[in-house]
Amino acid sequence: MRIDIISVLPELMESPFKTSILKRAVDKGLAEVYFHHLREFGLGKHRQIDDAPYGGSAGMVMMIEPLDQCISQLKAQRDYDEVIYLTPDGETLTQKIANTFSTKQNLIFLCGHYKGIDQRVRELHITKEISIGDYVLTGGELAACVLADSVIRLLPGVLNDEQSALTDSFQDNLLSPPIYTRPSEYKGLKVPDVLLSGNLKKIQDWLHEESVKITLEKRPDLLE
Ligand code: ADE
Repeated sequence: MRIDIISVLPELMESPFKTSILKRAVDKGLAEVYFHHLREFGLGKHRQIDDAPYGGSAGMVMMIEPLDQCISQLKAQRDYDEVIYLTPDGETLTQKIANTFSTKQNLIFLCGHYKGIDQRVRELHITKEISIGDYVLTGGELAACVLADSVIRLLPGVLNDEQSALTDSFQDNLLSPPIYTRPSEYKGLKVPDVLLSGNLKKIQDWLHEESVKITLEKRPDLLE
């Protein structure tokens, strides 16, 4: 998979891809991540990328020309499955959306800034709008990292234990059951007997029951 991330602050996104599992995915060539500095497509000697909104409201708007030039240049080089705009008014990211994106070859992530992008960029290029939650960040960069992380970890070969992505919370609309490791007792706190029983069927039934119980308690909406 290849992800091209367009931003005015690419330096904000460097470390997530240089650490731990995402780094390994990049090093193994399972994910290629490229940053494109929008400023390079800015207009005039000041490389302008934003301007005041028509209609006189507050804040600045990312201009259409630099964005169109940057996206068009990428599109001329390869076919993209999706051009994704990170924005608080997008569709809220879910595991299902991450699963779908993880099956794609080429993705563009566009990070918004200021008041957002000129509406015509949405009409011209954007195929999906994604929010990472009902709150407003200073820009789309951290959201782009969250989206990239949720997608890249699903790529075959990225996680050591292939099973572990499939048993994540949300994969079947259930939260994960409680987990324990050694010691089996600490300060009187015991690991449930069933997990020590060695009876695989009983253990799996128990884990499933716990998942349902926890989901009912914490996120009943997932079961609706
Ligand atoms: N940009 C600013 N806030 C955002 C959010 N919640 N999700 C995605 N992009 C954003």
